[in-house]
Amino acid sequence: MIYLNGKFMPIEQACIPVLDRGFIFGDGVYEVIPAYSRKPFRLTKHLRRLQHSLDGIRLNNPHSDKEWCNLIEQVIARNDEEDQSLYLHITRGVAKRDHAFPQVPPTVMILSNPLLPPPTELLTSGVAAVTSTDNRWIRCDIKSISLLPNVLLRQLAVDAGAVETILIRDGYLTEGSASSIFVIKDQVLLAPPQSHLILPGVTYEVVLELAAENNITYKIQDITEKELRQADEILLTSSTKEIMAVTRLDDQLVGNGKPGAKFSELHKLYQHYKATSMRAGIAH
Ligand code: PDD
Repeated sequence: MIYLNGKFMPIEQACIPVLDRGFIFGDGVYEVIPAYSRKPFRLTKHLRRLQHSLDGIRLNNPHSDKEWCNLIEQVIARNDEEDQSLYLHITRGVAKRDHAFPQVPPTVMILSNPLLPPPTELLTSGVAAVTSTDNRWIRCDIKSISLLPNVLLRQLAVDAGAVETILIRDGYLTEGSASSIFVIKDQVLLAPPQSHLILPGVTYEVVLELAAENNITYKIQDITEKELRQADEILLTSSTKEIMAVTRLDDQLVGNGKPGAKFSELHKLYQHYKATSMRAGIAH
């Protein structure tokens, strides 16, 4: 069951006019929010980022946070799985094709997909990643539905039998095609600074909070391509993949080629945090 423009319906019955600006121009933004045991995880943070994306494309937020919470809860309740990934999608609406903004209501959609944790084999072996030049636009802080560069970049990983493409812009690590990336060197967790060149990852923020609370030394700093390639460990994070270890980069082993100590520690802390915040019903 999905939500589309004020109504709940089976996905098969949902239709969007061909002149929707999401279809014509990729003119819209989105969010992906995990829900565990039917409770949205870090909902407030996701809604804040949604507001940032909407502001970035000059589109009014069609709903208050309270209304979003309510709609999301209803979509969760109308779907079977206990763990779901909610996809929020807002476009500038339906209008005759013209680049200039139309004065029309936005298209608002919420989808639910089953949320499956990464398979245990991938957590124990780690995953392969490839690198590529980050050729996206320079407002990567906006979670835009115009994802063609991300799609093309991610396919490079798939073509190479890898899980993610890690992006380098002007000699520095930015992020993955659909994830945030951390590097560990000499026991220090390194995170690229937030800027217009990367998406402010909600999972990225959780990881840094967990590091701060658990005496894991971390530094937010620019990370060179060389530092990425000489990393002891590389971590990939996202709302759907949680935390995974990258153990091969462009066919070179990362560290000793096995998920490292910092991965194990942060993965455990993340699972514990998830379980406790769900039990407490915290949706911050
Ligand atoms: N992607 N960077 C990019 C480019 C992303 O697309 C994502 C997430 C992230 C991680 O953000 P978060 O921790 O808030 O999920 C970083 C989502 C899952 C997607 O597009 O499906």
